[in-house]
Amino acid sequence: MHRIAVIPGDGTGPEVVVEGLKVLEAAASHAGFSYDTTTFDFGGERYLASGETLPEGAIDELKSFDAIFLGAIGHPDVRPGILEQGILLEIRFALDQYINLRPVKLYPGVECPLRDKGPEQVDLVVVRENTEGLYVGSGGFTRKGTKDEIAIQESVNTRMGVERCIRYAFECCRARDRDRKLTLCGKTNVLTFAHNLWERVFNEVAEEYPDIETDYAHVDAICMWLVKNPEWFDVVVTDNMFGDIITDLGAMIQGGMGIAAGGNINPEGTSMFEPIGGSAPKYTGKNVINPLAAISAVQMMLEFLGEEEAARRIEGAVIEVLSTGKVRNLSAGKMGMGTGEVGDLVAGYVSKGVPGV
Ligand code: IPM
Ligand code: MN
Repeated sequence: MHRIAVIPGDGTGPEVVVEGLKVLEAAASHAGFSYDTTTFDFGGERYLASGETLPEGAIDELKSFDAIFLGAIGHPDVRPGILEQGILLEIRFALDQYINLRPVKLYPGVECPLRDKGPEQVDLVVVRENTEGLYVGSGGFTRKGTKDEIAIQESVNTRMGVERCIRYAFECCRARDRDRKLTLCGKTNVLTFAHNLWERVFNEVAEEYPDIETDYAHVDAICMWLVKNPEWFDVVVTDNMFGDIITDLGAMIQGGMGIAAGGNINPEGTSMFEPIGGSAPKYTGKNVINPLAAISAVQMMLEFLGEEEAARRIEGAVIEVLSTGKVRNLSAGKMGMGTGEVGDLVAGYVSKGVPGV
């Protein structure tokens, strides 16, 4: 029995979560595993009504689940930062979800914005450190509001945090067994303390993985090469801030936010899976948002819960929907069908099965 906490959240989050759960149900009845879900109302509406981001005890309660399925956090009426820090980052940090795992995979049938690149060339994973760096909220103002104001925002990189992330990336690369190539993404020429630590730890850990080819690239160069030569990358490991930035770029080369999913992983604890696109408030309630990213997040969740076959079946169903051209365009409002219909299609293929899966 898998116990799953569900946080639909804000904006279009609840709509895509419904479709994810639809597909989860189809996968569970086919594969014969059981699960239950408990829904939490954390998000902007709750904050506006109560002034509370996460209520007392919420973190402990979330820790008791096998996994968390999150829609999106972010509300147009709440000042930026409050919900992100109070809910999303709080869960990532408090549950020590120290890996943010973001696959960038172009499926057949999806139009790649990069001329001459297809599914063979766009298939990589970004392992983003998820609990440290610029995200810890360390720093402050001096002489705030004056002409002499100083704002300092510190990047915190611990040996322990860097090492466990890099180790996870080597393991991930080995398990994927694609090109067996791990690229460290940093800015060693400017971040001469933080990324010097990353580089030293990377080289040290690499000695334990002689079967993995290692490479290094500056973050700005990675942005260029992800567009020009995405096939150079198999697994990329990087810090929190750079990982945030390059995975939005990654999402675009795999067809857009409509299809990009990610996992916030604590290998020894409770992990959280989410579509990475955000709450897209302007599309809320219009039945136009693409649920494929949320459905792919369910696929990742099942993989981590040990339901590999069910996960593969979901991926097969998503590929079937895409490669047969049933979803015309992955962008909100351009799919040629509604959010619910896309979910129905995928759930249908999960139940019926598709050739080859
Ligand atoms: C993401 C988001 C978050 C992040 C924001 C909402 C804090 O952009 O999951 O990539 O920066 O991690
Ligand atoms: Mn982001």
